[in-house]
Amino acid sequence: MKRRQPILELIDVHAAYGRIEVLHGVDLAVPVGEVVALLGPNGAGKTTLLKVASGQMKATRGHVHIGGSHVNEVSADAMARAGLCTIPEGRSVFPNLTVTENLRLASYAGAPAERILQIAFERFPRLRQRAGQLAGSLSGGEQQMLAMARALSTEPAVLLVDELSMGLAPLIVQELYDIIAALAATGVSILVVEQFADAALAVAHRAAVLVHGRVVAYGKPDDVADELSTLYLGGAA
Ligand SMILES: Nc1ncnc2c1ncn2[C@@H]1O[C@H](COP(=O)(O)OP(=O)(O)OP(=O)(O)O)[C@@H](O)[C@H]1O
Ligand SMILES: [Mg+2]
Repeated sequence: MKRRQPILELIDVHAAYGRIEVLHGVDLAVPVGEVVALLGPNGAGKTTLLKVASGQMKATRGHVHIGGSHVNEVSADAMARAGLCTIPEGRSVFPNLTVTENLRLASYAGAPAERILQIAFERFPRLRQRAGQLAGSLSGGEQQMLAMARALSTEPAVLLVDELSMGLAPLIVQELYDIIAALAATGVSILVVEQFADAALAVAHRAAVLVHGRVVAYGKPDDVADELSTLYLGGAA
């Protein structure tokens, strides 16, 4: 049987800030409908990799493919229209607007506001309870849910999430990863960056470890988990 092409593929990608190269030839594939966890310590280049994958930053060498097409020269806007959506580190909600207003704003991409609200509240019942609350006064986990709800209103084929669980309590992290797993089951392909591995590895189909701008491990979560402690956590995993 012919294997389906990965929806997102990075081949020998190099990237630099000015003259300082921070990605030194990264290969990474996200298969259709799978969750790939991208792990690695501070400064490894995880965020940079997401920027290159989403067209916000150009690779200095190598190739970025989406659905098998070469997209190195494609703008971030065009990538978004093609179904690629990024949730950046630190979440992207408007703090001075309510939950409902934040969701309504997401309708600029085309979907009707009522439909966006309906889908968001079905998927995140907590947001319904807090519909009239200012986003800035939501808990960190609720803000992340709102950011995800906004991102999902575009019905992306590929979702890139930076530091999904940063600063959040374990219970809410579990809830967010349950949602990630459910999304993947509907066919969305997801690349999720994490510094702390456990929750991500529990739902991921594959994992990659990036250290100093190089993928030093890639494979099944269990195998990668075994290697992690020796790779960079000094046994503290
Ligand atoms: N805008 C920038 N200008 C110059 N150097 C940068 C810039 N952004 C990142 N870097 C450098 O590139 C390297 C990789 O950074 P990056 O943000 O991709 O790492 P990361 O793996 O996401 O780290 P973290 O886990 O802390 O978020 C770091 O050495 C960082 O200092
Ligand atoms: Mg980062």
